[in-house]
Amino acid sequence: MKMMLSLGWLFIAIVHKAEPLISDNFADCRVYFYKEQLPEGFDGIALPHHFNPSDLPDGINESELTSPAYICQQYGNKFHFASLYDRGRRIPLYSAYILDRNSSSQITNKRKKLYKIEPQLVYRQLGGTMKLQNVTKRNIEIYKINQGILEANEKNDPDYLIRTSQAVDADYRNSGYNRGHVNPRLHHVTADGQNATFTFTNVAPMTKKLNNNIWNQYENKTIGYADGCTTMYVVTGIVPGNNWIKRMNTDRVNIPSYVWNAYCCVDNNDKPIKSGAGLKENDISDRPVNEMAINDLQGKLKHLLKFSGNIAMFFNNCA
Ligand SMILES: *[C@@H]1O[C@H](CO)[C@@H](O)[C@H](O)[C@H]1NC(C)=O
Ligand SMILES: *[C@@H]1O[C@H](CO)[C@@H](O)[C@H](O)[C@H]1NC(C)=O
Ligand SMILES: *[C@@H]1O[C@H](CO)[C@@H](O)[C@H](O)[C@H]1NC(C)=O
Ligand SMILES: *[C@@H]1O[C@H](CO)[C@@H](O)[C@H](O)[C@H]1NC(C)=O
Ligand SMILES: *[C@@H]1O[C@H](CO)[C@@H](O)[C@H](O)[C@H]1NC(C)=O
Repeated sequence: MKMMLSLGWLFIAIVHKAEPLISDNFADCRVYFYKEQLPEGFDGIALPHHFNPSDLPDGINESELTSPAYICQQYGNKFHFASLYDRGRRIPLYSAYILDRNSSSQITNKRKKLYKIEPQLVYRQLGGTMKLQNVTKRNIEIYKINQGILEANEKNDPDYLIRTSQAVDADYRNSGYNRGHVNPRLHHVTADGQNATFTFTNVAPMTKKLNNNIWNQYENKTIGYADGCTTMYVVTGIVPGNNWIKRMNTDRVNIPSYVWNAYCCVDNNDKPIKSGAGLKENDISDRPVNEMAINDLQGKLKHLLKFSGNIAMFFNNCA
C-alpha cells in the first residue's frame, strides 16, 4: 500500500511539473487585473522568508523562496484570484479579483469552512492547488520519501516546514484576532468561488469589530456598486502594522494597521464606467470606512507605506 501511494505521488509530482505553480508576476492569472496590468508599488515592501539561509531544509531551493510570492489561487482545478503574499509577514499584501455576484444574487454557501494552506510555499513541486494542512503534511511526507530526503531532523520536519513557510490555524486560534478575508466570500456566488477564498494566504488578522461589522458592511455595500458593470475589478489589501500575533515569543503574523480597497467597473468594451476606493484602520472604532477616489487612496497609501515610488492600482487609474 505504501509503495503504491509513493508511486502514485511520484506520478502526480511529474504531472505537476508542467503546471503553473508560484507564478512569475501572476503570468497565469492576469485576467483578474484590469487590462492585465498589476498594481504598482507593492512588490518592494515584502519581508524575506523565515527559513535559515545557511541551513535550508533539504530539497528547498533558496532562489525559489522569493518574497513576495505571486500566488494564482487555485481550487478545484481552476484559478479564482491572485494574491501577493508577503512570506515574512505571513499575510497577503493584496488580493486581486473580479467581483462575481450582484445585489440580486443570493449568497449560496453559508456553511462554516476549514481554511486551507498553500503547499507550493514549501515545495513548488507539491503543486499550485490550495490544500488542508493535514493533507499538505501527508503530501510532504510522501514527497520526501520520493526525493530520498530521509534525514529526520527538525529542519525537514513537515510541521516545521509548513509553519515556517506560512500562517497556519494555530496562529489565529486564541490570538484575539479574526481571520479577516482580503478577498471576501461575499463577493462570489459559486460554491467553489466562495470556497477558494478560505485560504490562509488570503486572510490577515483583523479586529472582530472590523471584520464582522465595519469592513463587512462596506464589502456588502460594494456589491451594489457592481450593478451596471460588465466587469468589476477589485484589489483589496492591507498596510503592514507594527504589531504581530506572537507564539512562543516569536513574531508569527503581522497585524495590519489598515485595510484598503479599490474597484474599477467597466462596460462590455472594457471602458471604465466608475471607480472608487476605501480605507479603514484595523481598530475597534465605530468609524465607517473612509470612501474616496482611487487617486486619494494612492496618495494616502504612499504616505502610510512611506513609499517614494509610484502607487497605481489600475491601468490608467481606471479612467
Ligand atoms: C533553483 O531555482 C532556480 C529558479 O527557479 C533555478 O534556475 C535553478 O536551476 C534551481 N537550482 C537547483 C539546484 O535546482
Ligand atoms: C444578477 O445575478 C442573478 C443570479 O446570478 C442573475 O440571474 C441576474 O441576471 C444578475 N443580474 C444582473 C443585472 O447582472
Ligand atoms: C484532514 O482533516 C479533514 C477535516 O478535519 C478530514 O476530513 C480529512 O479526512 C483529513 N485528511 C487527512 C488526509 O488526514
Ligand atoms: C465547498 O466547501 C464545502 C465545505 O467545506 C464542501 O462541502 C463543498 O463540497 C465545497 N464545494 C465546492 C464546489 O468546492
Ligand atoms: C447588505 O446590504 C443589503 C442592502 O443593500 C441589506 O439588505 C443586507 O441586510 C446587508 N447584509 C449584510 C450582511 O450587511
